Amino acid sequence: MSAPTYPLWHPMTSLPVYLEDPVTIVGGEGSTVVDDRGRRYLSATGGLWNVACGYGRPEIAAAIRAQLDELAYGTLFRFGNEPALRLAARLAERLPAGLDHVFLTSSGAAAVDTALRIARRTARLRGEPDRTLIASLKDGYHGTSGLALEVTGEDLDHAEYGVERRDIVLLPTPNVLAPVGEPTPDQALAALEELFATRGAQVAAVIFEPILGSAGVVDLPDAYLRRARELTREHGALLVVDEVATGFGRTGRLFACEHWDLQPDLLTMSKQINSGYLPLGATAVSHEIFSLWWEQGASLFHGETQAGNPLACAAALATLDVLDADDLPGRARVAGDRLRARLDEIAAGTPTVAGVQGRGLMLGVHLTRDPATRARILPEDMLGVVRLFADEGILVHPAPTGFGLFPPLVITDEECDRIADVAEAVLGSAVPA
Ligand SMILES: Cc1ncc(COP(=O)(O)O)c(C=O)c1O
Repeated sequence: MSAPTYPLWHPMTSLPVYLEDPVTIVGGEGSTVVDDRGRRYLSATGGLWNVACGYGRPEIAAAIRAQLDELAYGTLFRFGNEPALRLAARLAERLPAGLDHVFLTSSGAAAVDTALRIARRTARLRGEPDRTLIASLKDGYHGTSGLALEVTGEDLDHAEYGVERRDIVLLPTPNVLAPVGEPTPDQALAALEELFATRGAQVAAVIFEPILGSAGVVDLPDAYLRRARELTREHGALLVVDEVATGFGRTGRLFACEHWDLQPDLLTMSKQINSGYLPLGATAVSHEIFSLWWEQGASLFHGETQAGNPLACAAALATLDVLDADDLPGRARVAGDRLRARLDEIAAGTPTVAGVQGRGLMLGVHLTRDPATRARILPEDMLGVVRLFADEGILVHPAPTGFGLFPPLVITDEECDRIADVAEAVLGSAVPA
C-alpha cells in the first residue's frame, strides 16, 4: 500500500488506524469539543489533560489579547519580560515551601530535561562528580526529548532512535493493582532502599510523578513518597517531583505535593499551567540549589527560544486567577469524589475492572483480562473500549493499564454522571475476559 498524501504526521498515533476515521476538532466550550462534522464530545481527557479552566475562557483570551498589544515576543536569554517575571514570582509564592526560583520552558519534557541537568550539575558543583545516577520509575512518563525520554520507563522505541539510558536506573513502580508476578508495592519500596544502600553516593536524583498519569493513573503509596524524600535527603541526592500532569488543581490541590506535605528539591510543571492556551513549562528550584550555583558563579547554559514567551506567561497568570476565583482545585475534589464513587461501584460489580486509582479529576480505571491475576487488558482491546466511549460522545485516554479520565476542572455534576453511565454500559459488555 502506498503512503497516503495526508500532510500531517501525528505524534503518538498509528496513522493507518487514525486515518480510518480522522477527527478534526474545530471548537470547544466548557468540557465539550466539536469536530468538523458537527459531532460533539465530552472531553474527559481535558485536551491532553491541560484544559484546566475549560474551553473558551474569555478571561484567558482577553489576557493574551492585552499582552499582544504590549509585547508578543521576548527572549529570556539575557533579557526579562514582565509577564515572565510576574509568573515566576507568583509561582514561587504558591509552590511547596522552599521552591523559590523558576526556570521557564516551552514544554513539560523541557522542564524535566532542565530539572535533571540542574540535578547532575549540582552534584558536580558540590564536588561530587561521580554522583551521576538518576533513578525513575519503570512505568513513569516524563516526555519525549533528551533526558526526559531517558528517564521515561515506558518503551517508546528508545533503541530505534539510538537513545541509551546512560546512568539511569529504572525502579519498579509501587502499584497496588499491578498484575500478579510483577513487583508488589513492598518489593518496589525494597528496591528503592536497595538502590540507596548499595549506590547511594552515586545517586544525583530520583524523579517520579506523585500520581503516574500515562501509566493509566497509579497512586504512589504514602510510604513510598515519604521514604523517597527521607532517602534522598539522607544520601545527599535530590528529589525531583514531576507535576506536569498533576499540577494546577488537577488532583484537588494546587500541587499534588500538598497532599503529603512533600517538599521536593525540584518540581516540574506544564500542561494546566495556562489551561492549554499556549506552550509553556516550568522548573521550580530550591533556594539552596539556586544559592549554590550563584555562589559558584555557574550559569545554566541551556534554554529555548520560546521559553517564557510573554503571551504564554500572560495566559498562565490569567489561569491562576481563574483557578483561584472559581476554586477549581476545590471543584476537582468535589467532582472527582462524585465520579470516583460511581466508578468504584462499577469496579465492585465488574470482574474485568481491577480497580480505580487517582485523586481529584485524575482518575484511572484499571482493566484486566483475568481477574484472578489482574493480567492487563490487551492494547487492541483497550482501543476498542476507547472507541466505544467515543461512539457515545466521550473522549477517554487509553493507557497500558486501562483508561484515564482527566476532564476540565469545570466539569458539571451532570457531565460526571454521564461519564459514569457510559462507563457502566461500556465496561459491563465490552472488556473481553
Ligand atoms: C508527568 C509528565 N511529564 C512530562 C510530560 C511531557 O510533557 P510535554 O508533552 O509537554 O513535553 C508529560 C506529558 O504527558 C507528563 O504527563
